[in-house]
Formats: sequence, C-alpha cells, structure tokens
Amino acid sequence: MRAVDIIRSKRDGEALSREAIESFVSGVTDGSWADYQASALLMAIVLKGMTPVETGWLTEAMARSGERVDLSHIPGVKVGKHSTGGVGDKVSIVLAPLAAACGVVVPKMSGRGLGHTGGTLDKLESIPGFQVALSLDRYRTLLEEVGCCLISQTANIAPADKALYALRDVTATIESLPLIASSVMSKKLAEGSDALVLDVKCGRGAFMKRPADARALARAMVSIGATAGVRTECFITQMDVPLGRAVGNALEIAECIEVLRGRGPADLTELVVRLGARMVRLARQAPGDEAATALVRHALESGAGLKKFRDMVAGQGGDPGVVDDAGRLPSARLTHQATAARGGIVTALDALLIGRAAVALGAGRDKKGDEVDLSAGLLLRKKPGDVVAAGEPIVELHYNDAARLQAAETLVTQAIVIGDHAPAAVPLVLGWVHDSGETMFVAT
Ligand code: URA
Repeated sequence: MRAVDIIRSKRDGEALSREAIESFVSGVTDGSWADYQASALLMAIVLKGMTPVETGWLTEAMARSGERVDLSHIPGVKVGKHSTGGVGDKVSIVLAPLAAACGVVVPKMSGRGLGHTGGTLDKLESIPGFQVALSLDRYRTLLEEVGCCLISQTANIAPADKALYALRDVTATIESLPLIASSVMSKKLAEGSDALVLDVKCGRGAFMKRPADARALARAMVSIGATAGVRTECFITQMDVPLGRAVGNALEIAECIEVLRGRGPADLTELVVRLGARMVRLARQAPGDEAATALVRHALESGAGLKKFRDMVAGQGGDPGVVDDAGRLPSARLTHQATAARGGIVTALDALLIGRAAVALGAGRDKKGDEVDLSAGLLLRKKPGDVVAAGEPIVELHYNDAARLQAAETLVTQAIVIGDHAPAAVPLVLGWVHDSGETMFVAT
C-alpha cells in the first residue's frame, strides 16, 4: 500500500485497515517510509484518533516489529512498571530495586525524555559509567542475579516504537490516546513481563490533562494487556505539580537515593509505596494489601531497597559510590534562585512550565538527537501549600550555559502562583483501573 494513500485516508477521518497499519509499522521499521511521511500520519492520528480495534492492531504490529523476550526460565511472576511520563517522575528508578528487594522480578525497558517530561534513561546516564544499552543476555542475567535492571529498548525490541517515539518527541505528536497506549503496551508486551503496573499521569504536566482522558487511556491499556494475556493495572496519578523536589537528570538521581534512604519527599515516597505494594501483590509475594504495604515499607526502612539499587548500578557498570556520595554525580557550574515576588502561600507550581524550564536549561531535547545536559535542572525549595516571605527562594535553577537562563527563569516565574489562601488538597492517586473494575477518587 502507498504511504500517501494511508496518510490521506486517516487525514479524512477514516478507520485504517489492519493491512494499512501493518504497512505503516513495517515501513517505519525498515525505513521505507520517510520521516516526513511517518510524521504526517502521526499528526493525522493525533487529530482524527483511532478506534480501539485500530489501536489494538497498531500495538500488536509494533510489538511484533522486533523480538518478544522470553523470561519463562526465571521463576516467579515478572512484574513490569511504566509511567506515561511526568515532570520530576523518577518513580521507576526507586521502585524497581525496592520491588526487587521484596522478591519481585522487575523486567524494565525504559525511555528517554519526551517533550517536557524527563526520561529514566537520561537520568540513569548521569551516574558515571552506567550502561543502559545492554544485550538481552545481560538483561536476563541481571534479572536472575539482582532481580531488576533498567535498560533501553534493545535494537530489536519494538523497533517501530523506538523510531516513532523519536519522531513524536519533536513533531508535537505525543498527546494522543492511541499513540501513547500502543507505544507503552508494545514495549511492555515485548519486554517479557507477566503482569504490569502502569502509572498514567494526569494534569498540567502530563500528556493527559483531564481525568476523563487519563481514565480512557488507562482502560485502553488494561484492555490491550488482557487481550495479550498480561494482567495490567493502571494508577492515575496527579501531575499538576512536579513529583518530589528535583527536576533534571543528576538532581533526580540524588533524590532517588534520598528516598531509598527513607529521607525522600513525602509525595514521591507515598507513590513508590502504593505502586510497590501492587507489584508485590501481583507477584504473589504477600497475602494481602496490608502485608504488601508493610513489606515495601520494611524494604525502604531497612535499607534493602538501597542495597538492591547499589547492586543494580554496579551490575550495569555504574559507579556504586554515588550511593554514599552524591558529589560523584555531575553538578552544574552555575545556580540561580527564583524568588517570591510577594509574601503569601504558594498556590500553584505549574508542572508543564517547570518541565519546559528544565528543557530550556538543557535537561531535555528540542530536536531529535540533541545532547542532554545531565547536570542541568531545578530544585523546588517550596511547593503548593508552603508559606513564603517576599524575596524568599522558591526554585533553584542549575545550569552551565548562561545563555539559557533567561528563558528558563521566565517560565519558572510564570509557573509560580502565590496567593493568600492554602490551595485545595488534591489526592496524589486520582484513580485505579484494573481487570475487574475501577475506582476514581476524583470526578471525571
Ligand atoms: N511513554 C511511552 O512509552 N510512550 C508514550 O507515547 C508516552 C509515554
């Protein structure tokens, strides 16, 4: 089938046939579709959508564009985890070793930053020596020996997603339910998990801005998982405000270590414990929810999770010394404080603008293939609900290139809202969707 006919058909709002979708996916994988043609179809999908059936075909074709890893020789239920991406979302880096310390095997292939959201791989690469591009043999060995690892998609895992992900990052074609659902689930089906815990971010700094859209995405992914025989649960979690206090690669790794030491920010720690308890339950490592939560908390408090993190870093060639000395992580030459224009209470700290500020400082990419500045980013000294005096620091900007400061500071200034009254409390977990039902904790 000709690419131009497929593009025209979606542009005109028609549902694509299975053959057309397979032709697109194989064209992207073998390079016979040019980037501009793939981008045009992606934009048409963003604008016209896809039916659940088309989304299922797209997921299947992307998962089949490469190899599907077989981990059946490793005993136990293998439980993967994935987030749709947020600002300051470093959960996987803490959760994989923590769940492994509770006896869960966690196969995990992660992504790079996408748009204004950070990527697990970029963050991990700020650890000196850390290798994300491991062979499938090494992946299997680390899963057997350590119980977790965080690697990039190998060249042969869902290569169609890899190619599309890079294009979507730079063509404003990320925010689309079928594209996100198929991207996440194609990788997850290929990486060898028996069950999945997904975190759909929702709010200003997420690709899904409204709870109703996040719920629709969660339902789509749970249903794709069920069809493929991979039990899938989805949390919908708040992303109006960045998670934790650090945004930017090395800064976030330092914060992950603090969480694993039991000294992390409350929101990040709570989310890690909630998701970890579900992973423990799905892996049948605890008889009930309370016991699962207690097991995860114990792994955090006893230092067992931190030990697993150290083992994972060493297993992937990184410097385990960063665990005891965060000074071994890259740090920026320059810092600047964004201060409160007036006294009052911080009522908002817009995650989207903070994410864009991090990219402006060099922590993310503007164009496909851009180098990332691993030490650039922001530390949030205040969060919504905190009282501030006029002139007090709210956000600390870390950067190396002075030319980048002004644009970032403008975004940070726009992100901060100071008022006279405490903002209404928003729950961290907005909803939970699974194969036997769903609970929403906020109105949709
Ligand atoms: N995470 C993914 O893996 N893919 C997307 O499209 C968005 C977030």
